[in-house]
Amino acid sequence: GEQRSLYDAMGGHEAFARLVHRFYAGVRQDEVLAPLYPQDDWEGAERRLTMFLEQYWGGPTTYSEERGHPRLRMRHMPFPVDTDARDRWLHHMRAGVDDMGLPPELDAMLWDYLERAAHAMVNTADTG
Ligand code: HEM
Repeated sequence: GEQRSLYDAMGGHEAFARLVHRFYAGVRQDEVLAPLYPQDDWEGAERRLTMFLEQYWGGPTTYSEERGHPRLRMRHMPFPVDTDARDRWLHHMRAGVDDMGLPPELDAMLWDYLERAAHAMVNTADTG
């Protein structure tokens, strides 16, 4: 039977590291998102998101060993995430997912998750 985790099927550490590296390259150029991130710890931010996604998809559980329970909505409360921030976040994530070059079925699973997670992270009403 098929015993490989989705993490392995998606390409393991190399694939997730590539995804998140591309994502942050976009975020760093984004005038709305960039200021929200720790300007002196982009490497740390990249590492935390990579570990989280690896753990979510069945890879190493280093994220929770280092950071505890994800509680992502709570951890994002310091950052005003409105629909514009969400859509920008998804835009950069889409570029990263494209870089993974996944088979369509895996691409769709990963993208569906990211879209739903991003919609759930909105914590600030649009100000117009
Ligand atoms: C952390 C912004 C959505 C996962 C962060 C940080 C910011 C941020 C500014 C702090 C960077 C750091 O020090 O690690 C946003 C914005 C989003 C968004 C604007 C728009 C929707 C998401 C989504 C996920 C996610 C959908 C998961 C699929 C994480 C993780 C961390 C993080 C795992 C590190 C948490 C920790 O351990 O401290 N995010 N985020 N974010 N974000 Fe997001």
